[in-house]
Amino acid sequence: MSKTNQMWGGRFDLPPAELMLEINASLPYDRRLYAQDIRGSRVHAEMLAKQKILTEQENRDIQKGLAEVLKEIEDGRFEFRRELEDIHMAVEARLKELIGDAGGKLHTARSRNDQVATDFKLFVREECQKAVSLLSTLRNVLKEKALEHVETIMPGFTHLQVAQPVSFGFYLNAYAEMFGRDIKRFLNAFDVMDECPLGAAALAGTPFDIDRFFTAEKLGFKAPTKNALDSVSDRDFALEYLSCASICAMHLSRLAEEMVIFSSQPFGFVKMPQEYTSGSSIMPQKCNPDAAELMRAKTGRIYGSLMTLLSVMKGLPLAYSKDMQEDKECVFDACDTLTLALKVMTAVINGLTVNAENMRKALENGFPTATDLADWLVKKAGIAFRQAHHITGQIVKFAEKNKLRLVEVPLAEMQKICPQITQDIYDVLDVYHSLNARKSYGGTAPDQLRRQLNEK
Ligand code: ARG
Repeated sequence: MSKTNQMWGGRFDLPPAELMLEINASLPYDRRLYAQDIRGSRVHAEMLAKQKILTEQENRDIQKGLAEVLKEIEDGRFEFRRELEDIHMAVEARLKELIGDAGGKLHTARSRNDQVATDFKLFVREECQKAVSLLSTLRNVLKEKALEHVETIMPGFTHLQVAQPVSFGFYLNAYAEMFGRDIKRFLNAFDVMDECPLGAAALAGTPFDIDRFFTAEKLGFKAPTKNALDSVSDRDFALEYLSCASICAMHLSRLAEEMVIFSSQPFGFVKMPQEYTSGSSIMPQKCNPDAAELMRAKTGRIYGSLMTLLSVMKGLPLAYSKDMQEDKECVFDACDTLTLALKVMTAVINGLTVNAENMRKALENGFPTATDLADWLVKKAGIAFRQAHHITGQIVKFAEKNKLRLVEVPLAEMQKICPQITQDIYDVLDVYHSLNARKSYGGTAPDQLRRQLNEK
């Protein structure tokens, strides 16, 4: 027998070069799609038999053979041979060895182009579902923690400068909201990719009387894809996963960044769970927030995958080009990275120790109730907000110069700046008063936050 490829050796005189095998083979990584590949093939054969393109006996042999191949792979008995290029050909070749001629009929009315699109889509769909489930767990953990800290006061920041008092629960729930949107994005992506490419064949459809609605339904899709040419050229589904993953990783990275800041000694707001930190080989006192730092960095990997695939796809004429084989490793890497990241950040939040005293103390600097003072001038003295802002600025300047907190500025000094100020202004300068006052829809007041936490 010639050493040319057994799938298309007919028109070849020479076998591929060693280097060609190396650049051409996707088997080393796409073997990860074996379950999806076998599932797709089983449904395809079932459909061919239903349409009388295969006999019932041929279908039975194929089903039995594919089940055996699956078992061999799962038991680690399968021989992955690089010269077979990819998982699709590796499975088919083994099937032929096991069941003989009927195995050669499986590829009727399909092509590797629609086969790979289907397998990969099945894989990405599962990853979307996995992300949704991990995100829901993270969101629940955040909400549970938030409920414990509805009244734990801390500074809210803008520009990382003390802005206004908020509760730690309010802060955590901000992240729960972000992850809630991420869930919606993954669900939406799943919905957009709910069409099955199998049966598009090479690019133009097939003359065989196939039933694509049957295959689509059996594989759990809402419908078959509508245009064969698009079906085999499309990798939007993978790009959408990567886009959702990138946004989600960006959220995780911001949370991680704040864990790094808040657990640093000058802040001391939180302690990361010790199992997610590491020590220093030289400085015995250290307890570094490594898990959070790695989370920040891994975000870059996920963005990198998105850029890789966008770049692979951007210049390709329709339909399939071999460039598209480079779609998988970046997606696999992003899936594994996101999965790990979501699990780690869930554990970090779950095991967080909160130092409420340090959070409260941090409100002693930075005049966090200056806005409350200005608001009092508007509400109680009928002064326009712009002007109230200016007056408050002068009081803050006085306080800063004399190293006082706003509550410590004597009434007489305030009245020198604004005669309408009365004793009851001191009520609103209290940080807890400030927190409780922010009752507007979506605000940080404890009752508002409880309402937010009760929402789905
Ligand atoms: N290994 C290929 C891939 O992963 C499968 C599709 C091959 N199709 C082709 N016409 N060569 O993209």
